Amino acid sequence: MADARHQAQSAPGNGRIAILGAGSLGRLWAALLPAGTTTFIPRQYGSEKNDPGLTYRFQDRHGYEYPISVPLLDWSTESPGAVIVTTKAGDTLGALEANLPNLKPSVPVVLFQNGMGSQQAVAERWPDRPIMAASTTEGANRPDARTTVHAGEGETWIGALTASASPLVAGVVAQLNASGLVIHEEPGILKRLWGKLIINAGINPYTAILDCANGDILDAPLFRNTVGALCLELVSVMHHEGLSPPSPEEMQAQIEAVARKTAKNTSSMCSDVHRGKPTEIDYINGYIVSRARAHNLPAPVNQMLTERVKLRTATQQETKPDTPGAT
Ligand SMILES: NC(=O)c1ccc[n+]([C@@H]2O[C@H](COP(=O)([O-])OP(=O)(O)OC[C@H]3O[C@@H](n4cnc5c(N)ncnc54)[C@H](OP(=O)(O)O)[C@@H]3O)[C@@H](O)[C@H]2O)c1
Repeated sequence: MADARHQAQSAPGNGRIAILGAGSLGRLWAALLPAGTTTFIPRQYGSEKNDPGLTYRFQDRHGYEYPISVPLLDWSTESPGAVIVTTKAGDTLGALEANLPNLKPSVPVVLFQNGMGSQQAVAERWPDRPIMAASTTEGANRPDARTTVHAGEGETWIGALTASASPLVAGVVAQLNASGLVIHEEPGILKRLWGKLIINAGINPYTAILDCANGDILDAPLFRNTVGALCLELVSVMHHEGLSPPSPEEMQAQIEAVARKTAKNTSSMCSDVHRGKPTEIDYINGYIVSRARAHNLPAPVNQMLTERVKLRTATQQETKPDTPGAT
């Protein structure tokens, strides 16, 4: 252990993987990467001095449950080899502002946020740092405060957002491959993020507004009456962004196919509304609205969905009873 610590100090870039955001996805990575190779970045600098770390139960894809203990990173004695960022999109810039001054400028930072906008904000704020984005279809949730469940097996794609990140992507993929998850280098990461954005924009707000599982949106009048226009808006914005979108009909078919395939799943947006937590709507349909505005395009369906999700969140927060211990 002392050797590992010494190595981390004397060889910048070879230390443990530091995870920023000890939520569902952060705990999934910490549980699956080899023991001793990860740390969590504490929320408040200095708290690691008295805190032994984080312990939780992890349920893997086969239903086996076991305890996981992850130490907290002490910036004064350790230099991480990579940082993976698993905060929600809206928390990411602030969380990095608080921590990046401690991180060596050559260390890769991998952003795991859904949606779009937070990744660009980070890359624009630190253009000289090696910043990467990841798109993952792995699923993790926390049914209670002490348990993290690997709820869905998927794949992960990682690509560079800044020039200095490009030569480091293969190394990060190799490091994360130790988790046993399927991880790919992705030179076209923005295109892949857009692909996921389309699906999220076409499913998540409907589930949050209608308070239903993914498959239940398919027959709902709100979805049936607006999904065609939603796809026209998405296609138009993508054209103006210089991307090659599918036709609106193909896009709608893709959205419906995913809703059907994941019919019983509850979207993160729907569960965030339930828990009275802020959603990532500003980085999904809200992002489409802001890009449409930048191109002088109308986006009334995305605007309507964004406003209705925000209204649901506000109403839920007002009516939510105190739930001690809820995460
Ligand atoms: N979960 C999945 O299966 C999954 C799959 C694909 C993509 N994603 C994306 O991954 C991101 C994280 O999702 P998640 O489900 O893991 O969310 P989550 O469970 O809410 O985890 C986010 C974590 O970040 C912490 N955090 C917030 N601000 C922080 C700060 N300033 N410093 C340190 N930690 C901070 C939160 O702490 P508090 O709770 O105390 O605020 C929370 O533990 C989202 O963008 C999501 O869309 C998730």
